[in-house]
Amino acid sequence: MAQDVNKIEHMYDAVAEEWAEAFAGEHDKKPMDREMLRRFAAEVGDRRPVWDFGCGPGNTTRFLTDCGLVISGLDLSEGILAQARTAHPDIIFRQGDILALDFADGSVAGIVAFYAIVHFTEEQVEKAFREVFRVLRPGGVFLLTCHLGEQTIHLDEFLGRKIDIDFMFFTSAFIGRCLDDCGFEKVEIVAREPYPGVEYQSRRAYVFARKPVVLKFP
Ligand SMILES: C[S@@+](CC[C@H](N)C(=O)[O-])C[C@H]1O[C@@H](n2cnc3c(N)ncnc32)[C@H](O)[C@@H]1O
Repeated sequence: MAQDVNKIEHMYDAVAEEWAEAFAGEHDKKPMDREMLRRFAAEVGDRRPVWDFGCGPGNTTRFLTDCGLVISGLDLSEGILAQARTAHPDIIFRQGDILALDFADGSVAGIVAFYAIVHFTEEQVEKAFREVFRVLRPGGVFLLTCHLGEQTIHLDEFLGRKIDIDFMFFTSAFIGRCLDDCGFEKVEIVAREPYPGVEYQSRRAYVFARKPVVLKFP
């Protein structure tokens, strides 16, 4: 059953301050994050607009801004957006839902989504990818990350707060198939082992995909 979007929003509102503090500057400790984000920045170049979907407290938005991109952040949770705006007052952050994007078709040059799908069921991931495909321009670049595996982890407590939320893991095969089904091309999945002592000990994937310049008919 799909996780209720309101529940996800309220969970992040409740832990916003602690989350922002716990994950501040996290890319500094993750060389592969930096490498993949620099690659994304190079592939997007000077095209715009570029969006960080599920931006959280804005760490990825900050990193890509410092790489030279003009990028804005979108998130469900006003609580976490407030943290992002305080930490990065030079960047635009706004509320929005990846599952029902209020963007025109073909209007975005690049989209990054770091661990933004972690609370989605498989059906919600399919829906999110269809939305990303719809709003990307032909030739637009998509980079997402996720935890690799088949398990779902339920948490009742996080960062000292009582919560009730599932974290979903996905296989590379599932992610690749969903992106293919949407019509993405150049799908490339780069897996890595967890950094000990730095993050939750799960295998992770960086997934690059591109909306074709010439769309298949129909
Ligand atoms: C695991 S956090 C990742 C945050 C950030 N990208 C990072 O890597 O630090 C997931 C984020 O996605 C946001 N999110 C979850 N579902 C969303 C949706 N349907 N639309 C927009 N944002 C969503 C959450 O509010 C949360 O900030």
